[in-house]
Amino acid sequence: MANVSLTPDFLEELRAKNDIVDVASKYLTLNRRGGNFWACCPFHNEKTPSFSIKQDGQFFKCFGCGESGNVINFIMKMENVDFMTAVEILCKNCGMQMPSHADSEEMQKRKHERDRVYQILRHTTEFYHQNLLKNPDSLQAKYLRSRQISDEMIDKFQIGASLNYDDLVKYLHHLGFTYDEMVMAGVVGKNEHGSYDFYGGRLLFPIMNGFGDVVAYSGRSVDDNPTHAKYKNTPQTVVFNKSEILFAYNFVRDLKKEHMLDTIIIVEGHIDVIACHQIGISNTIGCMGTALTPLHAKKIKQLVDNVILCLDGDNAGTMATYKAIDTLKQVGLNIKVVRLNRAKDPDEYIKKYGKEAFLEELYSGQDCVDFVLKDSATKYDLTSNNERTKYIQEALNYISKFSLPAEQEIYLSEVQKLVRVPIDALRKSLHSTEVSVVRPTQEMPASDDIRDNFIRESKIMLLSSMLYKKIKNFDEISGLFVSDDELSKLYEFLKQKIEDNKDYNVSTLFDNFEIKANSLIDRVINYVFPGDEVFSSYLHDTIQRVKIYELECERDKVKNQMLNSETDDEKYFYLNKLKDITDKINKEKK
Ligand code: UTP
Ligand code: MN
Repeated sequence: MANVSLTPDFLEELRAKNDIVDVASKYLTLNRRGGNFWACCPFHNEKTPSFSIKQDGQFFKCFGCGESGNVINFIMKMENVDFMTAVEILCKNCGMQMPSHADSEEMQKRKHERDRVYQILRHTTEFYHQNLLKNPDSLQAKYLRSRQISDEMIDKFQIGASLNYDDLVKYLHHLGFTYDEMVMAGVVGKNEHGSYDFYGGRLLFPIMNGFGDVVAYSGRSVDDNPTHAKYKNTPQTVVFNKSEILFAYNFVRDLKKEHMLDTIIIVEGHIDVIACHQIGISNTIGCMGTALTPLHAKKIKQLVDNVILCLDGDNAGTMATYKAIDTLKQVGLNIKVVRLNRAKDPDEYIKKYGKEAFLEELYSGQDCVDFVLKDSATKYDLTSNNERTKYIQEALNYISKFSLPAEQEIYLSEVQKLVRVPIDALRKSLHSTEVSVVRPTQEMPASDDIRDNFIRESKIMLLSSMLYKKIKNFDEISGLFVSDDELSKLYEFLKQKIEDNKDYNVSTLFDNFEIKANSLIDRVINYVFPGDEVFSSYLHDTIQRVKIYELECERDKVKNQMLNSETDDEKYFYLNKLKDITDKINKEKK
């Protein structure tokens, strides 16, 4: 819901300056069809576009998953942020100022904290980076040269060096930051001797969020002290959540904005990412040696439909590949798998065999299910009947998870090639392993329900006419919505707007109502009108129909009251009322 301290006028201006089509096209490939723009929905998995944007109404609606909203809701969902952050992003986008009174005290305090942390991280990154550039003889600089990392990459990735445990602390202190703030940013540690540079003596790879702000570091050890961990990483902080940040995601996102992104390559190590970018394969991101989370997968899916998994060549890399396939499949990504046999990781591969050979590997990546079926076959001796049966069981189990018969067929034939068992036999065993899905039965609506639905649909039509056709006889329909809270609120809202003669459009509704998929308001917004030529007679009929319905409800109620009356006076009173209503109904029906 909108924050109360942002005025409607402010939000109106913000939305006017951020056309939803422009904003969305930074994330999605939009196609114009009819009056609308279409894309595959970024909020659920699909192959054919059911996500639409209406430019005149300035809102989106997915007919698949039901999500809808205006440009602010779009950013909230896309960037996974709260309302105020979405507003901030849009302000930045169009050069508007956030109103300074917008936040509560608590929010301002937290915002201030985050601002300070970002400032510290900016200064720290620059400090480390300058250390590296100014000390070409340092261990860190030498190490980078030994890994053949170019100056261009050092600049792009803002690589840096910590030369000791003290300088950074002194520098930040001199700039006016407190020790607590430094600790909160994750760059300074505290022990019994005081504060020290958390990454003392290490080579630093800054980790950036999607907007390119540094939020954390990975510090690689460059000495050969075996007690030093190979990497030291920033723990969770107010700006860093490991489970949603991917190394180099910001660069890949920039490619998306320039419409130059179709596939993302996922590798493990920082140096692997940098080696790929250095030879121009800049659609590469790093999972930083940890398992991909569903949040990671979601963020990847927001940018592309296709990924290539190219993890380390060792056994751990194979295990990680299996896990990653599961996670990435959940969000509907097409996954290809590249297993490097001739090198331990992409960096080593590129150094040994060159760019062309590496590209060749990427192009010839195998479909992830093929990978699973073939790789798991290597665990079994397929010449032995017993082992072969075990493998078939494992493979069929895996295949039975796919819902499309066509997909199952493709993979069955892969298994068939490996085990040389007639495909019919495999098919039969597959169907016997499948669990039958029990579908809930739909209850037939009683005829009263049908009528109620019909009337509800009519009311939706009336409100939609107020919204889109700005009909002038809305007073005539006042009182028709009282039996439904949601609709009567909407009626009042639209009435006010029409009376104030304000220029408003649909996107305004999303600031004022919580609009759930398939709710009544959702249906008002997405109501499809009959053709213009019949609209006015249709409107007239609908008004009449709803009026009669409401009167008949009233009549039934009064009838009941009459039957239950205890005195003759009372009975007489209701009888008169009943006559009144019946007259009205007859008048309407004429
Ligand atoms: P690697 O050990 O392969 O490191 O771990 P690397 O950066 O690729 O270095 P080389 O070139 O193989 O020697 C892969 C990734 O796992 C994470 C880091 O993100 C690293 O880039 N990692 C590894 C850690 O976070 N901590 C560790 O101690 C080791
Ligand atoms: Mn590695």
